[in-house]
Amino acid sequence: MIFSPIKIKEYEIKNRAVMPPMCMYSANEEGFVNDFHVVHYGTRAIGGVGLIIQEATAVLPDGRITVNDLGIWSDDHILGLKHIVDVIHMNGSIAGIQINHAGRKAKVENPIGPSAITYGGDYKMPKEMTIDDIKEVVEAFKDAARRADQAGYDLLEIHGAHGYLIFEFLSPLSNQRKDQYKDGKIFLREVMEAVTSVWPKDKMLVLRVSAHEYIEGGVTPESISEAINYVKDLGLDLIDVSSGGNVLVKIKAFPGYQLDLAKKVKELTGCKVIGGGLITDLSLASNAIGSERCDMVYFGRILLREPYLLINHASDLGYEIKYPEPYIRGKK
Ligand SMILES: Cc1cc2nc3c(=O)[nH]c(=O)nc-3n(C[C@H](O)[C@H](O)[C@H](O)COP(=O)(O)O)c2cc1C
Repeated sequence: MIFSPIKIKEYEIKNRAVMPPMCMYSANEEGFVNDFHVVHYGTRAIGGVGLIIQEATAVLPDGRITVNDLGIWSDDHILGLKHIVDVIHMNGSIAGIQINHAGRKAKVENPIGPSAITYGGDYKMPKEMTIDDIKEVVEAFKDAARRADQAGYDLLEIHGAHGYLIFEFLSPLSNQRKDQYKDGKIFLREVMEAVTSVWPKDKMLVLRVSAHEYIEGGVTPESISEAINYVKDLGLDLIDVSSGGNVLVKIKAFPGYQLDLAKKVKELTGCKVIGGGLITDLSLASNAIGSERCDMVYFGRILLREPYLLINHASDLGYEIKYPEPYIRGKK
């Protein structure tokens, strides 16, 4: 059930609930952490979420989704990030960070991508990356991983979903290169090799993927699983399964809409998976774990409006949760 602990490496995660990365676009233009971030993540940790994965944090200034993304492109960011880690740890949760390059979806002067193909809408035409651009980005992921370790995170999530740079390489809809990188798995592997050369082996490593593009010619659960199988020997502890984001299509979303994708990826790769999508009640989450569709469940938007979902609703499942000591007089 959702409150069963899970052990990954030497980490005892107290329950299966995950706060997935959610951009808050609340940093200043230098990408620094401020009090909002510390309160925001600290509150969800007080609320009993087992694993908190911090929002997409940019490995390069030109890899930002917006100018208000959090950044990890310089050593100067480490101290602020450490404050987030500390507040999460202080309140008994495991601290993760998602590192990202937004590729053609970066709202910057000169976005880059695997090919000169635009996302559409008001997004700019990206420049097709040269081999030097590729090397620079790979190196930036490596430096970001080293800084994430120095800041004290327990878990590093590489953003390979939602139409950002790594996913752009993986999808035939955004990658029409003629060189060796036409196989987007090669770029993913280079990023992962760089990251694992500095990220400690005893800490957790996660890859987030979009397991479906819901459009002819796009990524499918089968093709994304093939990419995962190509890199998993580098040591992936979990796959965080999402979908969409690389092309403008309407997704039919309902509670648990991505759970079957998580199950498929789990079957085809043998990896542990985090699944979710519009999950707002704990019984559906427990059922997803009980039916082995996923190993952990993410609660995104619901945690924006109900940070205390877990501690307030554990008793609905008959589970006696440890309530935060200072708040006991407010317990229902
Ligand atoms: C405000 C907001 C920001 C998001 N930012 C990110 C992000 O930084 N990285 C990411 O992988 N997904 C991001 N997502 C997607 C969520 O992690 C999650 O997969 C999605 O909201 C579906 O889960 P839910 O239905 O429980 O909200 C974001 C979603 C929201 C609502």
